[in-house]
Amino acid sequence: MTGDEGRADRDEQPSGAALPHHASPITHHLPPITHPPALLSCHDLSVKAGSLLAVQNVSAEFPAGQLSAIIGPNGAGKSTLMRALLGLDVPTSGEVRLDGRPLAAWTRRERAAKLAYLAQGEALPEGALVRDVVALGRGAGGWLWGLLPLGGWAQADEDAVTQALRRTDTEQFAERPVQSLSGGERQRVSLARALAADPQFLMLDEPTNHLDLGYAADLLTALNTEAAGGMGVVAVLHDLTLAAQADRLLLLHAGRVLAQGTPEEVLTPANLHAAYGLQAEVLRHNGRLIVIPEVGRGK
Ligand SMILES: Nc1ncnc2c1ncn2[C@@H]1O[C@H](COP(=O)(O)OP(=O)(O)OP(=O)(O)O)[C@@H](O)[C@H]1O
Ligand SMILES: [Mg+2]
Repeated sequence: MTGDEGRADRDEQPSGAALPHHASPITHHLPPITHPPALLSCHDLSVKAGSLLAVQNVSAEFPAGQLSAIIGPNGAGKSTLMRALLGLDVPTSGEVRLDGRPLAAWTRRERAAKLAYLAQGEALPEGALVRDVVALGRGAGGWLWGLLPLGGWAQADEDAVTQALRRTDTEQFAERPVQSLSGGERQRVSLARALAADPQFLMLDEPTNHLDLGYAADLLTALNTEAAGGMGVVAVLHDLTLAAQADRLLLLHAGRVLAQGTPEEVLTPANLHAAYGLQAEVLRHNGRLIVIPEVGRGK
């Protein structure tokens, strides 16, 4: 099987209308078909987590070629929204669309080929070698149990794994067991696993959690590079000064959208107060925003 096979379920493709027999097969005089940039979007989306409506009436767009950050306080519904955008949680109302087509109409396999996910606090399989963990991104789950991946393993898969290791600067760890890596190094391996799938959209829930500032900045740089290369990158972030360097922000509060737009539009003291109950200063320095929370001095 080649790397391209198995990307879509052929028997589940939408059946197009048959060409009338008198239609001319000559199409070279037609203008080229231009495709709008890929887009992941949700429309009036509501999602339950347990009995709670954790996401309420959220409409938002996450374009390819951009880094979008979802921000908001603990419990705001960020992870729930991300899971719904991936099709892992089914909405109670509204819908998610991928390239204009409802996500529910995509097969699981099609979705998996387009959307890669790095879950919040994702654990890596203890004892596995870094290279094998990254190969999981190519559907090589059985490898960890000594089985060949379903559908075989092609040179394209091998190349994608090597590329992903390179793009995340984890090549030097390839033959090491994951438990021998530091938290920050493991996080980069998780990113490599997601990139190995060569997705159209990369969805990351708190990828900078537990990372020192240097690693966090490196990770954001890696995400910016992927976005500049045309991937749609959506990351849940807590550090607002880091999030300020994304292209677009979506600020959630109690399951609803409090603000969305450019960092300048979203990161206002009024919005921060409404979302976090926080007095904060927002400074501009060399064209970037810095959020300084007011911290009490104690008594
Ligand atoms: N299975 C569940 N049963 C009941 N409530 C749930 C369940 N799962 C999530 N919730 C609640 O839904 C709300 C949103 O949760 P979610 O995990 O989406 O928040 P979050 O914004 O990702 O928070 P954090 O920043 O802490 O990760 C929270 O109040 C949470 O307690
Ligand atoms: Mg969360």
